[in-house]
Formats: sequence, structure tokens, C-alpha cells
Amino acid sequence: MTVLSLEAARPYMTTLVDELTKAGAIRSPGWEEAFATVPRHAFVPEWYEQETNEKGITVWRRHQAGAVGDELAAVYRDATLVTALDPDAAQQVDESAWTGFPTSSSTLPSLMAGMLEELAVEDGHRVLEVGTGTGYNAALLCARLGDRAVHSVDISPDLVRAAEQRLSEIGYAPRLAVADGQQGHPDGGPFDRIIATCSVPAIPQAWVEQARSGAVIHTDVALGVEGGLVRLVVEDGQRAVGRYTGTTGRFMAARTDALAYPRPEQALAAPEVDSRPASVTAGDIRAHYPFRLLLAFHLPEARLVYHRGDAGVLSLQLQQLDGSWARVPLVGEGVGSVTYGGSLDLWEQVEDAWRWWNDQGRPGQDEFGYVREADGQAAAWHIPGGRRWRLA
Ligand SMILES: C[S@@+](CC[C@H](N)C(=O)[O-])C[C@H]1O[C@@H](n2cnc3c(N)ncnc32)[C@H](O)[C@@H]1O
Repeated sequence: MTVLSLEAARPYMTTLVDELTKAGAIRSPGWEEAFATVPRHAFVPEWYEQETNEKGITVWRRHQAGAVGDELAAVYRDATLVTALDPDAAQQVDESAWTGFPTSSSTLPSLMAGMLEELAVEDGHRVLEVGTGTGYNAALLCARLGDRAVHSVDISPDLVRAAEQRLSEIGYAPRLAVADGQQGHPDGGPFDRIIATCSVPAIPQAWVEQARSGAVIHTDVALGVEGGLVRLVVEDGQRAVGRYTGTTGRFMAARTDALAYPRPEQALAAPEVDSRPASVTAGDIRAHYPFRLLLAFHLPEARLVYHRGDAGVLSLQLQQLDGSWARVPLVGEGVGSVTYGGSLDLWEQVEDAWRWWNDQGRPGQDEFGYVREADGQAAAWHIPGGRRWRLA
């Protein structure tokens, strides 16, 4: 990146900082300065945007950042920019578009800023970031805390190599490593703060062990039905306890292999048992994020997926590995009914959870606590009322 392109980017950087501050994502001078100092376009020379092509296929079209006008403005939007696609699944459909699944991205700046503020770093803190990706977040941490304080790991050697080069081009040198961040980074700890920009199914033991007492862990915990951002404080290197934050943000799942992109296990669906009127519709579930989170506590073995039936009807389907399932259509005549299979009517559980959530005045996600106990068992609870759910 030339000095010229940095100068050209300044007005866009200033606009983004103003936008993030107005939105309440940036709340302190330290992070305001970091976002005003680190050029995002240095980390995102190209990215992919989802579109439907002329054949009606959903594709990822490659865009390249330039040094001028519209191209720079595109990088300094408050938008997630997908920067890598699963090489196994990605198929090129024309000179600049691919099908496939995103495997890395530069996170939505307002989400990054909100998470960095939640981290409540102080000078002298040592931070571990899990999910280096482009290196932009690592650069922001360096700008705020200094190179020596920042450790960042990514499972992908290619991404770490590219991030290292970009960081050094603009004068940052955090400690980077290729590693499965679910094992933490034993050589770098103990940490005062751990932030993950990929989701984990549960808080890894390694993070708790590598954190100082009083350290903050901030990550997306992905449960089967839904996930969310938790901010936890580590107690005596044994347990991590805290709550869901008010921010609604999700991240791509941590993988255990740089080149393997595991697809969720699929159960053989049990035969259809019945259809009946439903008091909770697909619209209710799609409209209320905190309710989906509650459903994830309520049904820790379940997953929520889209299902397209033989007649092309699109439904939301809840399914479990024992083969039980229940589905509610998104549109059409069937809206207001549920069809289910398996030994139990899963939708009854959805209706129970819905009743409870409404009786409690529809609590938001930040009214739920989350704990990872010393033995690894996790639980969530409703903070005002105390009702508790043991998580899988
Ligand atoms: C949303 S991106 C990270 C964005 C990044 N912080 C940035 O500023 O560009 C998620 C990253 O997590 C990485 N990742 C996935 N599984 C991982 C794992 N087990 N350990 C470390 N990184 C992992 C992916 O390769 C991807 O780069």
C-alpha cells in the first residue's frame, strides 16, 4: 500500500469512525484512535459479495479494492467482507464469480468495535485473538496495546502468511501463529483477554487454563439452534462465568483442520407422524433472536435448518440426531401448522419455550447468563428469574 493510497483512504476512515461512534459501537477514545489509524483496505485487497447471477444461482463475486473513490468507499462500509471460500466446495462460474462457502472474512466493523469495547482492555494487557483472518483486528489491537501485547492464531497457514505480510507493511508485528485456536496458544499466555472471531461450540478448557484469574473471554458460543456472544470472567483458572452481551453477532464456526470444512452430522429422518395447528410459526422464530437462543437452551440436542419439500415448499425444520423432526412452512397454505416425525412432538417443546418467554416479558439475550464450570459442563440461566438450563 502506498502513502498515496493511505492519504486517499483518510476521509473514508474518518467517516467510518464517525458512523461507528454514532451507532454506539466505538465508545472510548482508545478504540476511536485505533480505528482512525489502521487502514482496513490494507487488509482487504479483494473480497467476495453474494449475488444472484443471470441463471438464478447464488454466487460470490470477487471485488478488488482500488486506491480511489467508490472502491475505497466499498471497503470502508460497515459491512462484513468475505475474503476466502472453501476451496473444496467453491466452483468458478464465470471470470470473477464462484459458488461455495465463506471460510474467512473481515468482520462487520461495528461488531468488531463493539466486541473490542466489551473486552475492556487496559494498557499492559496481553491479548489472544483466535481467528487472525485478514489481520485487521490484530492491527487494531496492536494500535491500542502495542505489538508485544498481541498474540493471534488462525488455523489457515495461508491466511496467517498473508496477514503477517500486510501487518508488517504498515508497521505492526504481533505474535502470529498457525494453530487450532481451540487449544489456545500455550506459548503466549497467560492472557488477560481472549477474543475469538470464530465461534466455538463450548468454551475450550485451554482458554480457561491459559487465562489469568479475572481475565475476560469474549466469543460466540454456537449452540445447535442458535448461538451468541458471551462475555465471561475467568475465576481461579477453573471456571468462566458471565452473560450474553446485548450485541447480536455471529461468526463462522471454528474448524479443526485448515482444509477440512466439516458439514453437520445429519440424522435419518423418522417417518412423518402427524400434522396439527401450531401456535408458534416460522415467522415468530425468524423474527425473535433472543427466542431462538432460548430454544437452543431448551433443546440442546436440536438443530434448526431450512428444508425444501418435494412440492418446493420452504420450511423451518427443527431436527435431532435421534431422527425426530418438526417443520413449519415459511409461506403458503401450511403457515400456522406443524408437521412432525419421530417419537416425540418436538414442536410442543417450542410452544412451551414460547409461552415461558412471553410470560417473562420476552427477555433479551443479555438477560441470560452463561457459565463454563471447572469440569467443562456449561449452563445458561435467566438472570432475573434464575431458571437454569444445562447445555450439552
Ligand atoms: C471471521 S474470520 C476472522 C476475522 C479476523 N479477525 C479479521 O479481522 O479479519 C474467522 C477466522 O477464523 C479462522 N478459524 C477457523 N477455525 C479456527 C480455529 N480452530 N483456530 C483458529 N482460527 C480459526 C478462519 O480461518 C477465519 O480466518
